[in-house]
Amino acid sequence: MANRSVILGIESSCDDTSASIVIDGVKHSNVVASQSVHEQYGGVVPELASRAHQKNIIPVVDTALKEAGISKEELSAIAYTQGPGLMGSLIVGSSFAKSMSSALNIPLIEVNHMQGHILAHFIQEKEGKSPLPKFPFLCLTVSGGHTQIVKVTDYFGFEILGETKDDAAGEAFDKVAKILNLPYPGGPVLDQLAQKGNPKAFEFGISQSNDLDFSFSGFKTSFLYAVQKGVDRHANFIEENIHDLCASAQHTIISTLFKKLEKAANATGIKEIAIAGGVSANSLLRSELKLRQTTLGWSAYIPKFEYCTDNAAMVAITGYFKFLRKDFAELSSAPTARLTL
Ligand code: KG4
Ligand code: ZN
Repeated sequence: MANRSVILGIESSCDDTSASIVIDGVKHSNVVASQSVHEQYGGVVPELASRAHQKNIIPVVDTALKEAGISKEELSAIAYTQGPGLMGSLIVGSSFAKSMSSALNIPLIEVNHMQGHILAHFIQEKEGKSPLPKFPFLCLTVSGGHTQIVKVTDYFGFEILGETKDDAAGEAFDKVAKILNLPYPGGPVLDQLAQKGNPKAFEFGISQSNDLDFSFSGFKTSFLYAVQKGVDRHANFIEENIHDLCASAQHTIISTLFKKLEKAANATGIKEIAIAGGVSANSLLRSELKLRQTTLGWSAYIPKFEYCTDNAAMVAITGYFKFLRKDFAELSSAPTARLTL
């Protein structure tokens, strides 16, 4: 078919190798190979991540093309995650994308990973349209590396209203989980265990500032001391209180996020509110956001689980919007570990 935009997206910024085909803004495949090799180390080991990306990238791209029923020759452009992320991981995706675009003689498109998380809200499904956020909207972007409140004025207009001064929200989840001897990544496990706990059982200190910025490092220390004190008194403290500890930690992190988000909504008068990034898979964050549709009159936009954590569909949809305005990269394009929005 003539004139359709067939975009291959490639994501390799951290520990997920992913490829996706988006045709005219509609997702046709989104294949993710997660790396279990890091579990035994309690965190991502950069060197192992880049090796696993090298092993996974060809089969993942191949599967994404097959699942979409697309041949390489039908591609219009290749979009890849330029950053931010781990340099060794980014290099695998960028080298692959550059070689493939050069071999096929089609445009190469650079994608900012954080822009991808936000624009994931615009991915359409084959089955039909879902409501899209209306500009301007606020997006709470919460992942393992970032925590930001962003005012989004169009596909390419971003203003960071607030961000973390130290740990990201996902990092806070992962560090708390590590203290509790839970497997990596800790966020999803903690979320699960919190379901059966009392969120008010424990109180932990968390930094309170008047601006829209976040700080989670004090909370992590407060949590660590509380657990150490408990264990000193009673060796089985963690095991016996695991659900309450998880629920209380989750409650502390999520209520801090909402305090700032509500402040940003009040300050800007914007009621279109979206969430993005790995932590937007959190069940309490999702339910609390939905609740505010009735209590505060917000229009809430919550991504499908598939698009919360790292995935290439968000890279492909961002690539699609850049393709429409012919925002192409040179073959000298290089990954940048510390790319900002
Ligand atoms: O966006 P993402 O996949 O990777 C980064 O770009 O960082 O986010 C990963 C983060 C991890 O910290 C993970 O623990 C957290 O998202 N996460 C969650 C949940 N699912 C993933 N945190 C809380 N609750 C969850 N259900
Ligand atoms: Zn991410």
